[in-house]
Amino acid sequence: MKKILLSILLSAGILVNGWAEKNDEGMWLPILLSQKNYGDMVAHGLKLTPEQLYSVNNASVKDAVVWFGGGCTGEVVSNEGLLITNHHCGYDAIAGLSSVSSNYLRDGFWAKSKDQELASPGLSVQFLVKMEDVTTEVMAALKDIPFEQWQAKLPEILKPITKKATDGTNYEAFVREMFKANQFYLFVMEKFTDIRLVGTPTESIGKFGGDTDNWMWPRHTGDFSMFRIYAGKDNKPAPYSKDNVPYKPKHFLPISLKGIKDGDFSMIFGFPGRTNRYETSYGVQMAIEETNPAIVKLRDKRLNIMKAEMNKDMAVRLQQASRYAQIANYWKYFIGQTEQLKRNKVWDRKTNDEATFTKWASGKAEYQNIFTNLDQSYKTFRPYNKHGVYLREGVLATPMMSYAAAYLDLQKILSKDTVDPKALAGAIEMIKARQSGFLKIYNKEIDKNILASMLDAYYSDVEISQHPEYMAEILKSKGKTNSEKFMSFAEKVYNKSILTDTTATGKFLRNPSLKMLDKDPAIKCALAFLKNYNERFKPFADNFNMAITKEGKAYVKGLMEMSPSRNFYPDANSTMRCTYGNVKSYNPKDAIHYTYFTTLKGVIEKAVPGDAEFDIPEKLTQLYNNKDFGQYADATGNVPVGFITTNDITGGNSGSPVINADGQLIGTAFDGNWEAMSGDIAFDEQYKRTICVDVRYLLFIVDKFGGATNLINEMTIVK
Ligand code: ARG
Repeated sequence: MKKILLSILLSAGILVNGWAEKNDEGMWLPILLSQKNYGDMVAHGLKLTPEQLYSVNNASVKDAVVWFGGGCTGEVVSNEGLLITNHHCGYDAIAGLSSVSSNYLRDGFWAKSKDQELASPGLSVQFLVKMEDVTTEVMAALKDIPFEQWQAKLPEILKPITKKATDGTNYEAFVREMFKANQFYLFVMEKFTDIRLVGTPTESIGKFGGDTDNWMWPRHTGDFSMFRIYAGKDNKPAPYSKDNVPYKPKHFLPISLKGIKDGDFSMIFGFPGRTNRYETSYGVQMAIEETNPAIVKLRDKRLNIMKAEMNKDMAVRLQQASRYAQIANYWKYFIGQTEQLKRNKVWDRKTNDEATFTKWASGKAEYQNIFTNLDQSYKTFRPYNKHGVYLREGVLATPMMSYAAAYLDLQKILSKDTVDPKALAGAIEMIKARQSGFLKIYNKEIDKNILASMLDAYYSDVEISQHPEYMAEILKSKGKTNSEKFMSFAEKVYNKSILTDTTATGKFLRNPSLKMLDKDPAIKCALAFLKNYNERFKPFADNFNMAITKEGKAYVKGLMEMSPSRNFYPDANSTMRCTYGNVKSYNPKDAIHYTYFTTLKGVIEKAVPGDAEFDIPEKLTQLYNNKDFGQYADATGNVPVGFITTNDITGGNSGSPVINADGQLIGTAFDGNWEAMSGDIAFDEQYKRTICVDVRYLLFIVDKFGGATNLINEMTIVK
């Protein structure tokens, strides 16, 4: 029975190489929607025209969507540049603006008028002005250049393209490769840097459920915050000035209070960061067996050390909050990815796809050796893989070690017989630029304990023959056990280094010498590990990366040739994409059903007084007890909190608008679900869901909890 069904599907061309065509997979390039997806979008329920989705000349949905802070997405919801994004996207700015006495992270913040809005230095947003396929032009220039040299030659090839696209404008442009460098697209952006915090719920609402609930459904987090874009009087980008005015957008999203049902159309525009959907079984195997467990193990240790210090002191907690959240987010991500790669049988699926491909490729010189080559490359590289992880995620992962590593260039320059003054000035500039970022997040106790712990882990887990000679010197430190020795070594490093002393480093950088570099124990330690790796093992990593990029490019090209009618989409790469699908419940496991929405009742049920992750503000309980829900309750008299859709998103889409068939905002996307954590490597049709804050909860918090009716009045609300 199953076999018959499969052969019917195959002959109908629905299952091609293991990918089903008719599902909600796909992070589509907006410029291609009208040609590639529009009919399917309408079949899913969309009521807008292609021009309303993406247009260069007329206002369209794309004009209401911004790349937020270079790692998230935001949406414009008023004609005065009011933005919604996630709480976890505003987190760094909110924590940065907070102090022990004005603790916006803990207590929330609501500007009741524009003059109360808080400038957030360092934050920027970018609009997509237009995008363009420049493959023909770029490929023509690359025609006679061997692939190994592409990376070096590309900047020079792309320069005239981006220059032409921006000449006489205030725009910025870049070109990104797509489909593993088989295609190239130009993106023209407009960047605003005067961004101000307008409102945020308390962390107990915005991060409700903390790391325990992170990456999971059912979810009850009010993960949103609000900012405003300011521009010069000409509505063009301008650096912060009190004379700047709210930006007038080309388009903003009206907000729907009409509610959602299972099966309703939903689409998301945003800036997904990175996927690797064309990853091979070899990559999956290395991730499961080695890379992911190593990352999790090292992050676990770092997080415990950070947590212990953060719990002692509110100022330390505020200083470390954002960094901690980032490390914890991907700590749990890699646990989930490993678990779901296994459960969803991704290795088996990839292996089957590869067998089909290899059969097709037989006799085709360009494609037939891809997998034997990959097999060889993985075998050659595997003995050195762990080492790289233990440097990035271990020994060099404290702020001070990572900053100390920046002195490597300086050391190289000073080691030459004749010192190049221009290179020297550049290296010093780079160090100075890194210094302020380092000092902002530096904490001696945390750093010191992490270094000791990471050295210990490196010593026991990285192949002894790969250790730097310097390890022997470290092990001469005082102590009975190795752990004690690593700790007393770390003590010495952090007591003696001058890196935290700006006067001393300033003096050193005015007249730098090799001798001083060698004298500072932090620089000495970081460079010993880094140089050992760079000189002995990095060549293996470089060769490996070149080989898998090259084979990966051939594989994707071959796949496209093998299935000419399949609708391919490129991996995420922080460029604007659209995904469409439906609001949809699911069954995560045998006998368990997850409905598609959560409510305030569930928040109250989950609340644990005094708990760091699950406590809720008294006022929220009161609003619930008094049923003081304003216009935000659903037909059953409850306030909806979260919902799920079949949309295809990843990190970077955080804060993205979730839009209904009429082009109105119904929610803000903020997470993926546990059962589909393998999603960055393989979309899972059955389980993949996007987790969103319902816009009614968002407005309820702004209005009833925050009392910011000024913001409610500013938005266009459709009932
Ligand atoms: N998992 C979410 C994402 O990557 C981030 C959630 C932030 N919350 C947290 N508890 N760390 O988009």
